[in-house]
Amino acid sequence: MSTSLKMTWDLVSYAFCVHKISLHLPRKYETCRLYVLFQDLIRYGKTKQNLKRDDWLRALDVPKRWFWHFYAVSVVWNGLLLAFYLISIFQHQSYPLWLTGVLDFLTGVPSTDSQVPQLSTLLVQLLLCVHSLRRLMECLFVSVFSDGAIHVVQYVFGLCYYIVLGLTVLCADRRGKGTGTLLSQLDWFHVAGNALFIGASLMQHQSIVMLARLRTGKTGRVETLAHRVPEGGWFELVSCPHYLAELLIYVSLSLVFGCLFLSWWLVVLYVLFSQALAAQLCHELYISKYESYPRHRKAFIPFVL
Ligand SMILES: NC(=O)c1ccc[n+]([C@@H]2O[C@H](COP(=O)([O-])OP(=O)(O)OC[C@H]3O[C@@H](n4cnc5c(N)ncnc54)[C@H](OP(=O)(O)O)[C@@H]3O)[C@@H](O)[C@H]2O)c1
Repeated sequence: MSTSLKMTWDLVSYAFCVHKISLHLPRKYETCRLYVLFQDLIRYGKTKQNLKRDDWLRALDVPKRWFWHFYAVSVVWNGLLLAFYLISIFQHQSYPLWLTGVLDFLTGVPSTDSQVPQLSTLLVQLLLCVHSLRRLMECLFVSVFSDGAIHVVQYVFGLCYYIVLGLTVLCADRRGKGTGTLLSQLDWFHVAGNALFIGASLMQHQSIVMLARLRTGKTGRVETLAHRVPEGGWFELVSCPHYLAELLIYVSLSLVFGCLFLSWWLVVLYVLFSQALAAQLCHELYISKYESYPRHRKAFIPFVL
């Protein structure tokens, strides 16, 4: 499990570095096929709109408004895994054979009956479901999407991502060291992790609402699908506070794990690189498109990056 996550992280950090290098390439390379393919794979939505692409690449586009599919899959899958975990705790039933087989394969550790239910696992599963459900509701009822696109590879990756995420949590459970009842395992890092999760979720929700209001009037009716300069709230400090909030949400889940689960830190590193890359591309677009764009604003981390 940690090998596949490390590979994903390596790929994203590699993409981040190559993008940085590509910024300094002469303009003639912008028509090079490999360059276009690379940009097509790392960009999506508004940062992809000005990319000059062949028709065969456009044929691989999927509407960005399908983002809700990721969260729908996550709610169903992670809800199912949570149900299996609750049944194993309260009815002392083992997981279905296929799930036990998958976890044995991923962890390399065979399951034992002596495993004590872990409070960290239960909390992370719950928070993952809450996060996915909120994002699903935001995609369906808050965000106003334009005709932006994502690559079909990004789409398939997004679907698999939330499946792997749920399995990663159950892999952590196999290595959990908590003893005693669920309540007796309660520690300061569970409280701190939950507090950070709530704060980061509020920050993300506020930013998503502010982006939606750039396109709706006071009545809530959609007036435009144009991209405008976001203002107010955390947007005064960074171009993409919702990406920063996403990173904080994953850090908060690592805290709930007591900061001890290495595979989850690899997930956090993946989110750091993927969201930093997306924020950087969005920031560059705003700066090149809007002359009056506030120069003091950073892309991703206030006052730093
Ligand atoms: N964990 C992960 O790996 C991962 C990966 C990707 C995203 N996410 C999370 O998912 C959330 C959404 O991500 P995203 O990339 O879709 O964000 P985004 O590109 O900023 O889009 C969010 C919404 O705001 C609209 N929008 C964006 N910029 C706008 C502007 N300048 N003016 C008016 N409307 C604007 C978008 O419409 P358009 O249709 O025009 O784009 C879309 O409806 C984020 O919180 C992000 O952290 C997580």
